[in-house]
Amino acid sequence: MPSVPGQSHVLDVHLDPSALAEGLAMEARTALTSRPKVLAPKWLYDKRGCDLFDEITRLPEYYPTRCEQAILEGTAAEIGTLTEADTLIELGSGTSTKTRVLLDALAGAGTLSRFVPFDVSEPTLRDAVSTIASAYPGTLVHGVVGDFEQHLELLPTGGRRLVAFLGSTIGNLEPDQRKKLLSELAGGFGPEDWLLLGTDLVKDPARLVAAYDDEAGVTAEFNLNVLCVLNDALDGDFRPERFSHVALWDPGAERMEMRLRSEATQAVTLGALDLSVHFDKDEEMRTEISTKFRRGSLEAELFDCGLGLARWWTDEDEDFAVSLWELT
Ligand code: SAH
Ligand code: TRP
Repeated sequence: MPSVPGQSHVLDVHLDPSALAEGLAMEARTALTSRPKVLAPKWLYDKRGCDLFDEITRLPEYYPTRCEQAILEGTAAEIGTLTEADTLIELGSGTSTKTRVLLDALAGAGTLSRFVPFDVSEPTLRDAVSTIASAYPGTLVHGVVGDFEQHLELLPTGGRRLVAFLGSTIGNLEPDQRKKLLSELAGGFGPEDWLLLGTDLVKDPARLVAAYDDEAGVTAEFNLNVLCVLNDALDGDFRPERFSHVALWDPGAERMEMRLRSEATQAVTLGALDLSVHFDKDEEMRTEISTKFRRGSLEAELFDCGLGLARWWTDEDEDFAVSLWELT
């Protein structure tokens, strides 16, 4: 992507609001007519969802952001020296707040020329792109609005690339979806490309449940907001006050599951789909999974996708890991 004189940031929109609504319409019909009902996590992140997630990252119970930030602060210089990356790509970038530690290190090492934040949420990405561009005037900031499950081929090629996938967002995907995304990513890698992955680790379930069901109720609000996303996009009449937030630990799959429980028998209409959806009392609809990882199984999983572990860093308590991968 050539830089335009006088312009230090660009935004490519590969998923505009109408394409997004069309995708939601297609997926929502399947999601709401299957048993159990299951929604895809990306629908949690409209503007309000992104703002609520930002609030989650500062909650006392939500340790992952602080742990990951601390690990990055301790390792960014080494990441810069090892990778000598000229392009930093970030998948599911959100506000790119933690990413500044990496940008500082790569800019400090003198190698960085472009930053490519990639996210499904256009308003959040638009804000992030202009904020980051003014803080890093020597770097071309090239935002891409897209779905990392569909549009990875839109990522810029060439140079020495470091792809950061932080926040344990990889854990919000099912194993087969993770395999597809990581294989596709590795398939486009050359010998000078690197993946930097943030993963939450298996720990005491009580701490996990607290992190996804906080005292102040921000996570509940974040979860319930998906009903407003459906209402807005599909002319729906979900009444969020008739549902409650559920966060539970699945010890078999070693993951948290977020659900919305219907407080009553009810019917919900989605005008745009010409669809009426029935909920039994206490019926639960899954809105998110958050898988927790162990080093050995993660290594095996990424090896299957063509990636080998170069570095593994954790915080002192081994709550969270940041790891660096390259082609095997
Ligand atoms: N990386 C940030 C934000 C994590 S929240 C952090 O670590 O704090 C997850 C982010 O991924 C949100 O910004 C959301 O909009 C984005 N996201 C979720 N599903 C996506 C998808 N399928 N494609 C692209 N971005 C996605
Ligand atoms: N990637 C984050 C995580 O798995 C997303 C997240 C945090 C989340 N809190 C949530 C998703 C609550 C749904 C509900 O930790």
